[in-house]
Amino acid sequence: MCGIIGYVGPRKVVPVIIEGLRKLEYRGYDSAGMAIIEAGKLVVVKKRGKLRELEEAVRGNAYEATTGIGHTRWATHGRVEDRNAHPHMDCKGEIAVIHNGIIENYQTLRSDLIKKGHAFSSETDTEVIAHLLEEQVDAGRDLLDAVRGTAHQLQGAYAFLVVASRFPGRVIAVRNLSPLVLGVGDGEMIFSSDTPALLDYTHRIVPLHDGDVVEINDRGYFFYALEDGHAFTRAPMIVQWSAASAEKQGYKHFMLKEIYEQPVVIRDTLYGRFDVATGRVDLKEFADSPVPERISIVAAGTSYHASRVGKYLLEQLARIPTEVSFSSEYRYQQPIVQPGTLGIAVTQSGETIDTLAALRLQRQLGARVVAITNRPESSAVRESDVSFITQAGIEIGVAATKSFMAQLIAFYLMAISFGQRKGTIDQEASLRLGGELAGLSQKCEQVLEYVGVMEAIARKFYQVHDMIFVGRGVNYPIALEGALKMKEISYIHAEGYAAGELKHGPIALLEQNVPVIGLLPRGPLYEKVYSNLQESNARESPLVILAESTDATAQGLASDFIPMPIVGELFSPVLYTVPLQLLAYYTADRKGLDVDQPRNLAKSVTVE
Ligand code: M6R
Repeated sequence: MCGIIGYVGPRKVVPVIIEGLRKLEYRGYDSAGMAIIEAGKLVVVKKRGKLRELEEAVRGNAYEATTGIGHTRWATHGRVEDRNAHPHMDCKGEIAVIHNGIIENYQTLRSDLIKKGHAFSSETDTEVIAHLLEEQVDAGRDLLDAVRGTAHQLQGAYAFLVVASRFPGRVIAVRNLSPLVLGVGDGEMIFSSDTPALLDYTHRIVPLHDGDVVEINDRGYFFYALEDGHAFTRAPMIVQWSAASAEKQGYKHFMLKEIYEQPVVIRDTLYGRFDVATGRVDLKEFADSPVPERISIVAAGTSYHASRVGKYLLEQLARIPTEVSFSSEYRYQQPIVQPGTLGIAVTQSGETIDTLAALRLQRQLGARVVAITNRPESSAVRESDVSFITQAGIEIGVAATKSFMAQLIAFYLMAISFGQRKGTIDQEASLRLGGELAGLSQKCEQVLEYVGVMEAIARKFYQVHDMIFVGRGVNYPIALEGALKMKEISYIHAEGYAAGELKHGPIALLEQNVPVIGLLPRGPLYEKVYSNLQESNARESPLVILAESTDATAQGLASDFIPMPIVGELFSPVLYTVPLQLLAYYTADRKGLDVDQPRNLAKSVTVE
């Protein structure tokens, strides 16, 4: 939700801001803007629309500035218009602010400021920050004190950056609940909402904590406590990602590249965690703690779907009662946390505010909490007792694909490890499960060879208005995920159902323009799902069936058949997910839509 960037150093700042915003654009792309200190004056340029509009607006200007801030917006307060784009300024046009988050008490602050004579030029919550700063600076405070004094008056979630013409060569940042990272370069400092935008400059990063106020200037970086202003320091950590991993590397879209990376993601997430020869899984993350008596998982969106698979695995393999809640609901359902409960917060970004809030509540209620996340530098890692870092690498496409795959693998590992420790998985079963795990990456490569098939199916159905995805058991969440992928990037109305539920209502939707995509791996539920698909066939819905390549019966029923490698039913989600991702991708691409930046969405949802 909104990307922010700020730079102080020897380089000309405009290209630094533009390139930084390009890397952050996945966080929001309604409008973009920048503020720089040019020859002692504040210059602000901002445009509604994608980043290219801002680029166009600054093209041809020989700006020399080396200090500045930039913003890419996901609108919360105020329509998508130039005036609501960030940065926002004070009345005199000397102070500029960019902000990610929501200022909850902005209406009261705004009325008070208007009474004091301030004139507002936008509908945003953010603009109050600029006017509050103006009050502070006019009272003779230094910019750093002004920022602290202002932040004390704000309620809500924020990460904001400030520059001011009276204080050249300085950028000041504050964080409360919204993500912000500092990159420490050689003689240059850069703030960003997310790490990938820093990698062209440095691999040394310092994630800000809530309540941190940080100044960057030509002498370095300086941390202060928001509460009482005392100075302290935080040591940088080194991130291993390469700048190239945040590039498309020849693929048309990030999403396609990320789908193709999944075999490697499977290998990397398994690496060092299980022994192929014995099938034994050793997770150092849980070495010091007993096997939990029960598990409570919180997550959102795609991470929620991975968690639903996780529940199935943890209950089947380790016999641990497991509940899964949407993190946005968890806090409001008066959750009961019994002794011996392990909380699990699943979040790719580690910054989803609903999930962080649910994680905090789990801990408050006495659970030990593990974060399953892809981002070692994230808030989720800092706020949980232990973290399980998935190895998906940087994911840029707004539609989560490879991070989902890594989350699934994390759940297989956890369920097998707990089962082995508890004794619900014996040696023979360990060998069988280990064999399945070891084969997944290669089978995933095989599935990726069906690109042409999925593209052809997308060509056939890209104009339909509705699609139904069905699966049962461990594949019901995969039906949900397939439908979510389709909705979010192709804007086709898609629903995922447990196949057995179709007859209890949704079957009324079926007709010849409503394709049904059925997940039909071999296993105990095969016959049941097959019957459910026959019921759909009788209503003339075209049937796209994913089943084992040797399954002639399924092939006979399908109007389009996706031949899948042979895999144990429990492991089928890993493989059956991939064609659904490809179907969504090619449908959206065929419709000419912006696959990596679908409308209304943002990669990391840092507002409630
Ligand atoms: O970073 P998180 O895993 O916490 O994000 C949760 C959801 O916002 C995310 O999975 C979202 O649903 C994706 N856009 C789905 O593709």
